[in-house]
Amino acid sequence: MEYTTLGWTDEKISRIGLGTWQYSETWGLTEYEAAKKVIAKAVEVGMNFIDTAMVYGRGMSEEFLGRSLRELGVKRDEVFIATKIPGDFLNPDDVFKSVERSLKRLGVNTVDLLQLHWPPCWHNYPTASYARALERLILHGKVRYIGVSNYPIALIEELREAFSFTDIVSMQYRFNLAERWAEEELIPYAEANDFTFIPWSPLAKGALTGKYTLENIGGFKDLRSNEPVFHPSNFEKLTPLINTLKEVASKYGRTPSQVALNWLIKYSPVVVPIPGAKTPEQVVENAGAVGWELSFEDWMRLYEVAKGVRITYVTW
Ligand SMILES: NC(=O)c1ccc[n+]([C@@H]2O[C@H](COP(=O)([O-])OP(=O)(O)OC[C@H]3O[C@@H](n4cnc5c(N)ncnc54)[C@H](OP(=O)(O)O)[C@@H]3O)[C@@H](O)[C@H]2O)c1
Repeated sequence: MEYTTLGWTDEKISRIGLGTWQYSETWGLTEYEAAKKVIAKAVEVGMNFIDTAMVYGRGMSEEFLGRSLRELGVKRDEVFIATKIPGDFLNPDDVFKSVERSLKRLGVNTVDLLQLHWPPCWHNYPTASYARALERLILHGKVRYIGVSNYPIALIEELREAFSFTDIVSMQYRFNLAERWAEEELIPYAEANDFTFIPWSPLAKGALTGKYTLENIGGFKDLRSNEPVFHPSNFEKLTPLINTLKEVASKYGRTPSQVALNWLIKYSPVVVPIPGAKTPEQVVENAGAVGWELSFEDWMRLYEVAKGVRITYVTW
């Protein structure tokens, strides 16, 4: 495994993390022992950066993660736990209440990184009020660092302005070879401010792994039955990209997933993808996305082919 540091801190995190939304009805991995095997393998291969959220399985993901780490005997400082608080909880009272519950589910005293999952768009809680509450959590040792997810830059600026003694360390957004809107302003902002940029759905929910085709995407029983990337009108646009991933992968003796993740890592030193995995084998494969490098020519080839992909989210 390769390591980097989290944002402007000197916290050591793996260059590839583990996403754990999979432990939910939404993604379908609801059996504890199966989740534990995934986590055990991630720890074994050195993925110490683990992403979860309060809303994943309404606490199931946090519970599975905390219980697994305990049962596996993983020491607290051997993993960096990043969870998320939903936008709906970002009022001063619920910030405290929800983080207490999250800590309980995880079975830890402190969350390493608390990410604001999305802005409080339905309730419009004033930014300054929840910024103050978040800083109390740091002062009381409940949270070590704050990150944002799915926040527009203007609101990030407002939040940073409202903090009195801290700053965010990370930004988490959708970013993969097929969906590259984050390139426009989000990644440059992370680079300019020394924040870690965490791409979610780095494999486009599995679309870039090479195992899905127009013929076999009809039978999903999970969230992908309703996912724009897997809508046939979009998925067919992915074919040239998937074929190029396969060609490049065979040249390096790698897999399309490893190439797709290596491409993200080579995009910027601040990028730390968190692919979700359902099996230990997927974890091992994803961990193998580091330790080698795409040449500039192959990276550019993918850059160009991917530029031709324009996903539409208007699928109904
Ligand atoms: N902040 C946010 O709003 C937000 C939103 C979404 C996700 N996230 C986070 O980001 C993480 C990753 O995103 P994601 O889960 O949406 O998408 P993803 O990582 O792009 O795709 C995950 C899926 O791809 C398949 N897969 C993964 N590795 C594979 C491999 N090596 N070979 C073959 N198939 C493989 C698995 O499904 P199958 O085996 O069933 O194909 C897996 O469930 C989540 O777990 C979550 O922690 C955050």
